[in-house]
Amino acid sequence: KQPPSRKGSMHELPQDLLQHIKRFEETFTVDTAKLKEIVKHFVKELEKGLTVEGGNIPMNVTWVLGFPDGEEQGTFLALDMGGTNLRVCEITLTEKKGAFDITQSKYKMPEELRTGTAEELWEYIADCLQQFIEFHHENEDLAKLPLGFTFSYPATQDYIDHGVLQRWTKGFDIDGVEGQDVVPPLEAILKKRGLPIKIAALINDTTGTLIASSYTDPEMKIGCIFGTGVNAAYMENVGSVPKIAHMNLPPDMPVAINCEYGAFDNERVVLPLSKFDEIIDRDSPRPGQQAFEKMTAGLYLGEIFRLALKDLLESHPGTIFNGQNTEKLNKPYLLDASFLAAIEEDPYENLSETADTFHSQLGIRPTQPELEMIRRLAELIGTRAARLSSCGVAAICTKKNIESCHVGADGSVFTKYPHFKARGAQALREILDWAPNEKDKVSIMAAEDGSGVGAALIAALTLKRVKAGNL
Ligand code: GLC
Repeated sequence: KQPPSRKGSMHELPQDLLQHIKRFEETFTVDTAKLKEIVKHFVKELEKGLTVEGGNIPMNVTWVLGFPDGEEQGTFLALDMGGTNLRVCEITLTEKKGAFDITQSKYKMPEELRTGTAEELWEYIADCLQQFIEFHHENEDLAKLPLGFTFSYPATQDYIDHGVLQRWTKGFDIDGVEGQDVVPPLEAILKKRGLPIKIAALINDTTGTLIASSYTDPEMKIGCIFGTGVNAAYMENVGSVPKIAHMNLPPDMPVAINCEYGAFDNERVVLPLSKFDEIIDRDSPRPGQQAFEKMTAGLYLGEIFRLALKDLLESHPGTIFNGQNTEKLNKPYLLDASFLAAIEEDPYENLSETADTFHSQLGIRPTQPELEMIRRLAELIGTRAARLSSCGVAAICTKKNIESCHVGADGSVFTKYPHFKARGAQALREILDWAPNEKDKVSIMAAEDGSGVGAALIAALTLKRVKAGNL
């Protein structure tokens, strides 16, 4: 919908500035043909990741072998190490089919931890677990509680309660963890503190989302995260995963694959990278990695916006913001996705929220036409992220010949970023060629809590299998 034209509109900006915005429109717009081209390449890359040789997309085998049947029971702990927060949950899967009780505490992950030492990380996690147990089970003589550890980073798993970190993503850069199994150091510290916890399963947030969502809705075939990072998991048949063929498992046995498709197109064949995406990659702790994630995930949206705004400022010195001090804009990652979300949420009438946010966070008072320019830039970046995000979902559906299904989605961008769902759904329509009057055949909808309930369910499924003597 076009905003009403009125006095003080963007079109009053100087011509050269308007030209610059026009170039941004071209840079950030991904049309239907490009979306289709991306999906075509995406499907090939998903396939490649399943082969023995492998490819850019890891397609990690999770050893989650099937969906829950609703009969799972028991009490489980879930530890969720996402990227921004750390959460501890206690979940009781009750006798009633598909029902559960949950108690949880959230802890903010201190920023320094992202680039600190491994020891600091494990100590911090153990502190949170200890606090949770002491608060909720004071003076109780607890039998060991099984824990589902949602560790949302790419990990190679030979079995479910083990996982070698392939590489950090989402801006983490902690020495001495990559290439190591992350379970033993955590177990060692839990033991040292005498905590009654046994790590039963290591889980990715997408796998948890897939399992938790299918628990309440059997139409759910894909679990997605659109948050600090982006990724998805889906169920494959063992027979379609050549890289585990040597294990001689029944070919029709289901196995969840954690795609780790944030790494899609690391070789830069098809993604429409802007110079801002190049800068983000170059200055990140892991250049050359997570190309798709760096264009679409919450961690980077505010930074893309900051870089684009700086580009405008530098190309038209003195023109924008009337010579006000813009020094604050020089700080990398100063603005997060919620800053952009707030701009996009602002009613178009006068963009007063945007004016306030710019003043309080950046000390800048934009004019009305500048506010509109800011809004347009936020829209362009938010729309590109949503449209590209849909390519991953469309690629999985295409690869699996899924004509219609539900997709369980979670993450801050999906739940909080305005218009993200509608823009993503529109892109899916274009990619999958639905007729204009046709209902959405693939619907991306809010998921059950994957990192909590999903982790508990996977821990329960694992214990059930161990008990039955299977794998
Ligand atoms: C990053 C992680 C991946 C996770 C995603 C969403 O892409 O590598 O494991 O699922 O973020 O949190």
